[in-house]
Amino acid sequence: MAFKNIEEEIKWVENLTEEVCGGIYPIEAKLLYFLARYGKAKGKIVEIGSYQGYSTIWLGWASKFGKKEKVYAIDPQNTIDLGNNESIFRENMRKAQIDDYVIPLIMTSTEAAKDWKEPIRLLWIDGAHDYENVRNDFLLWERHLVYGGIIAFHDFCLIVCPGVTKVVKEYIFDSDKFSNIGYVGTTIYAKKVKKISLFERLKKEALLSLLFPRENAEIILQEGKTLFDQGRHEEAEKIFEKIERDLYIILPPEYRICTSHFFADFYREIGACGKAEEIYQKILSFSEKRIPRIIKNPALINLGEIYLSRQDHAKAEEKFSEVLSQKGFTNIQRARAIFGLGNLYLQRGEFRKAEEEFKEALSLEPQDKNIIISIHYALGSLYERKGDFNRAKEKFEEIVGSIEILSLTTSRDKFLGGAQFHLGCIYKELGKEKEAKHYFEECLKFIPGHKKAKEYLELAADD
Ligand SMILES: C[S@@+](CC[C@H](N)C(=O)[O-])C[C@H]1O[C@@H](n2cnc3c(N)ncnc32)[C@H](O)[C@@H]1O
Repeated sequence: MAFKNIEEEIKWVENLTEEVCGGIYPIEAKLLYFLARYGKAKGKIVEIGSYQGYSTIWLGWASKFGKKEKVYAIDPQNTIDLGNNESIFRENMRKAQIDDYVIPLIMTSTEAAKDWKEPIRLLWIDGAHDYENVRNDFLLWERHLVYGGIIAFHDFCLIVCPGVTKVVKEYIFDSDKFSNIGYVGTTIYAKKVKKISLFERLKKEALLSLLFPRENAEIILQEGKTLFDQGRHEEAEKIFEKIERDLYIILPPEYRICTSHFFADFYREIGACGKAEEIYQKILSFSEKRIPRIIKNPALINLGEIYLSRQDHAKAEEKFSEVLSQKGFTNIQRARAIFGLGNLYLQRGEFRKAEEEFKEALSLEPQDKNIIISIHYALGSLYERKGDFNRAKEKFEEIVGSIEILSLTTSRDKFLGGAQFHLGCIYKELGKEKEAKHYFEECLKFIPGHKKAKEYLELAADD
């Protein structure tokens, strides 16, 4: 393969990666390309966190074109959030004709580090993003990075990844071993040196002060999030509005889009769905090329769910169908879209179609317990609405008995209380007042403010 210049080379890799679902921005991929293509140090390239191989292909081709060493792609390829991506990863390497230059290590970075002895010239950290794991990746792998080699981290200075920011501050900014820091999108990189020069130290300090607005946004966002978690929604909203007004203007679009999800989820949770809709749409309207699917995909599903909650069936169906017709969605996301369609049919009273969708969503074996319980719950409601009380009873009893699974959901009490309420209603329908009373009482233990359960109990007491 011979290209006239670097632009042509990059264009070629860009075409190869067009269909690959990635977690980083193209501008960051190009940065990695330059680091891998032109780095002067000698050694392997190690990537921690490959997902479906977007950044891997860029690193692989850069190293191959630069006639340098191979890329080791470390990823267990089996996490709850992202599902199992091993076969997609391997297929993507094959299609991008780089499988001869990429060595997949299908394991965690800790497992891979056990027998590792090779020098590394480029260490790219984009695996698990919490503080302990990022720190662990740094401590286990940085010791193999040669002097003159480059370390790069993804998702620096993002509210959703405070762990990355903390590790970079502690181990890169506060260390004399790293200089020549650069920053593109949300990727930060630095060169390992024996001793930092005075000039480089000054530049590092200057950069830190330049990054301050982001840090500031980060701290303020954190304050807003804490208020939100405490239920002080109005105060939280004021903070978010201030960030959008005063701070976003100085932050790059990559940062804003990542954080947008946070805002949109917030507005959705407090019931300001119009505002949430606006933000999800803004995320989607960002040009396809500029925004990683990892950010775009959840926006599409959330939007479908908002339309469904408004009973805007045409728009909801359009969004869910878009999810199901495209590549790059995880099983959990597909299950959510199919579940959404099921709920849509349930709202319309099309019970048979709804039941089929719910069962199909379950057959995808989504690993998220919230979704699994929600689908069982919806099936119970469907049987109840159909008047099939025996099956409905079975479903809700199954939910009440699934204590272990329920403890892994974020709304244990809501599911438990809700299922007991439905059991109460079913027993009431069956004329079994004593059992009905028992379940309404149980419901109130988990949802003390449940109006209908209270009403039924008051009526029963009057009788
Ligand atoms: C954000 S994605 C990586 C995105 C990828 N660099 C790209 O360009 O699309 C994070 C990946 O880290 C992986 N991961 C999670 N824990 C890990 C660990 N302990 N060691 C290595 N990889 C891990 C996940 O399986 C997931 O595929």
